[in-house]
Amino acid sequence: MPMTAEEIRTLRALMEYEAARTAPPRGFPALPDIPAGRYTDPRFFQLEMAHLWRKSWLLAAHSDELPAPGSYMTWDLAGEPVVLVRGEDAVVRAFFNTCRHRGAPVAMAAHGSGRRLTCPYHGWSYALDGRLLGVRDAQDFTDLDYSTRGLVPVRCEAFGNLLFVNFDQHAPSLLEWLGPIAAEWEEFQFDQCRLAARHVFDLECNWKIAMEANTEVYHVRSIHPTTVAPALDDPRNVNTLYANGHGRMVAPTPAGMATLDIMPVDPRIAQVDTVGEIARSCTQSYGIFPNLVAPLSQYVIPPLVFWPNGINRCRLETWTLAPPWQEGLRPDLWTENDGQKLCAVLLEDTEFGARIQKSMESRGFTGVPLSYQESRIYHWNQGADRIIGIDNIPPELRVAQVIGEEWMYPNDPRLEQLHD
Ligand code: FES
Ligand SMILES: [Fe+2]
Repeated sequence: MPMTAEEIRTLRALMEYEAARTAPPRGFPALPDIPAGRYTDPRFFQLEMAHLWRKSWLLAAHSDELPAPGSYMTWDLAGEPVVLVRGEDAVVRAFFNTCRHRGAPVAMAAHGSGRRLTCPYHGWSYALDGRLLGVRDAQDFTDLDYSTRGLVPVRCEAFGNLLFVNFDQHAPSLLEWLGPIAAEWEEFQFDQCRLAARHVFDLECNWKIAMEANTEVYHVRSIHPTTVAPALDDPRNVNTLYANGHGRMVAPTPAGMATLDIMPVDPRIAQVDTVGEIARSCTQSYGIFPNLVAPLSQYVIPPLVFWPNGINRCRLETWTLAPPWQEGLRPDLWTENDGQKLCAVLLEDTEFGARIQKSMESRGFTGVPLSYQESRIYHWNQGADRIIGIDNIPPELRVAQVIGEEWMYPNDPRLEQLHD
């Protein structure tokens, strides 16, 4: 569903409201400091690993990476080895990439295809749907029940061509997790967008340091004075908070500038023609909890995905999705020379990461006071505590749940203040 005329009017009015206000909106809570230990304390890192990464929907693959029945790929960015497989029925399933005999990975290659998954250690073979089919020298095993020795499944659900996994068998469905965002994304036709580029870069900082640079526009004038700042009317930025820790920013492109002026893609590239006015005239970016930053435009959808790699290192994945392109026009928004190097904007966003990390590890770092403009970061942290389980977190590492339901979309106290 494209945004209705009424929704567009409301969003435009909110932009003017944000530009005109002289203080945070009436009733918006003061945000207590984010405890420093959430970036540096191994206890918090362990809680993230045990809960946040095990209960959230995580972007693992694009359907183009599994083109036909029998296609498989291995994936371990969330810390546990997974194999995704397209079955005979064309459905993609995910399993722990762990043989039920003595634990070897059943798939070794990054990508491959076959009629079965055959463990390289002793040759046990599994159907594409995970059932154990064959055991070498089966007569030497006593009472081996094949029906209970299939590959252990991991939840796998699709949004268009995007494939998400979740290690929690009791998690809500992906669509419930996304909530209203699923409908807001319909105009971008995720089922039509092909995977144009996917690269991974190692960074020397906690994963949240890297991600938070993409969760607010407060840094834009300092970090991106010549690249992003001229293209972003940041006083008119409108943040929206959604349930489950998700958020959105929409900031208009200044008059006289077009989307293509700020994106290094060939103007001959195809467009998603159903994309509406807001995405065509604004910078629009969603944060999908926990680790997906998804800017959206009519030309490309270029998600950034952030993964922990220990407490003080992380991996940044850069993706570009786009409608089918002509020969020679394959877009890659974020890198130069097909993944050799991050583009200028992301170099700006990441260049201080290692130094911020060092600085945060010092005793001089005592906590993070966030502004209203950075409220998506606070909201994310509230969502993190809820998924970890507030009682599981040492009190000194918790954030207070001060942003209430009344600020969660579709609730928005700003709407009543528009005409004050
Ligand atoms: S570990 Fe897989 S067959 Fe032995
Ligand atoms: Fe940035």
